[in-house]
Amino acid sequence: MKITFCCADTRIEPWLRDFSAALPDATFTDWLTTREATPPADYAVVWAPPQTFFDSQPSLKAAFNIGAGVNAILALPRVPVIPLVRLEDAGMAAQMVDYVAHAVLRHFREFDAFETTAKAGEWKKRRPLKRVDFPIGVLGLGALGSHVAKVMKAFDFPVLGWSNSRKHIEGVRTFHGAGQLDAFLAQTRVLVCLLPLTPETDSLINAATLNKLLPGAYLINVARGAHVVDADLLAAIESAHVAGATLDVFRTEPLPPEHAFWKSPKITITPHISAVTLREESVEQIAGKMLALERGETISGVVNTNRGY
Ligand code: NAP
Ligand code: GLV
Repeated sequence: MKITFCCADTRIEPWLRDFSAALPDATFTDWLTTREATPPADYAVVWAPPQTFFDSQPSLKAAFNIGAGVNAILALPRVPVIPLVRLEDAGMAAQMVDYVAHAVLRHFREFDAFETTAKAGEWKKRRPLKRVDFPIGVLGLGALGSHVAKVMKAFDFPVLGWSNSRKHIEGVRTFHGAGQLDAFLAQTRVLVCLLPLTPETDSLINAATLNKLLPGAYLINVARGAHVVDADLLAAIESAHVAGATLDVFRTEPLPPEHAFWKSPKITITPHISAVTLREESVEQIAGKMLALERGETISGVVNTNRGY
């Protein structure tokens, strides 16, 4: 089995070491070192590969993305006509839960306000808020969103979820399809975005959708920056209809120093770290799927390029 890597912004040596251990009979190349001179491979391990990578590797049987989101690959001018496989959880769901739970609880328990009074040396209590007033709506109930919805339910918040197809998650009010989006938004106060970026979900979080949320709404975007219309979010915060946001992802990353988000005291910013790729879990998942394909078996996690995720 011949495997080539084309992973932008990634130190490749540890991946080569772990893949060599998992697949001792395979041979490996790093396309970013040898470029078009790289011999044809059977499988590719990729992150944000350029078009020339796929153009120069015509024998690939499948490409494995070392992330959950495949929008960068599907944005290429010529998307390869081979199975494109994304990571399924691979240790990311637990990280997403940490991140979202922290953002929700920090907002709901008003830790920022306590921090401010503590810094001023003030012993100041606040009347507790009610969970029932903070229904959490999760956009996207896939590998990550479904896990987040279940754990937020375990925290005893009312939880709603929205997906393409109908879902059943114990204790979660589920909605599906464009026709049920408004009903979902109208009952949501804390909006968590865990959608893939597709033509349907690009700019979905805009003035119209934000205005449909319950007053005092809060946004947690951990999916892709382009889901949000930045100016509309800032305006909704300015009007106080939205109380604030925790944002991990941005239209331009790194977030440019002059961007207005940096200056808003109501916005918490993190540098796209809500769920990072964990190498050991990813190698185990991808190597297992390569071996399954070699045995002629079907695998899960293959992207439907027509629907965009
Ligand atoms: P997934 O398993 O493919 O789940 C996607 C969910 O979104 C599914 O429930 C799907 O509905 C729903 N969906 C897609 N298009 C929709 C639409 N037009 N209307 C309603 N629902 C729609 O993806 P995942 O593994 O959970 O990951 C989600 C996204 O998180 C990734 O695509 C990536 O962009 C982002 N992510 C970010 C980080 C980070 O560090 N910030 C890390 C990992 C992933 P169905 O179930 O009905 O198909
Ligand atoms: C990270 O953003 C991913 O898509 O895995």
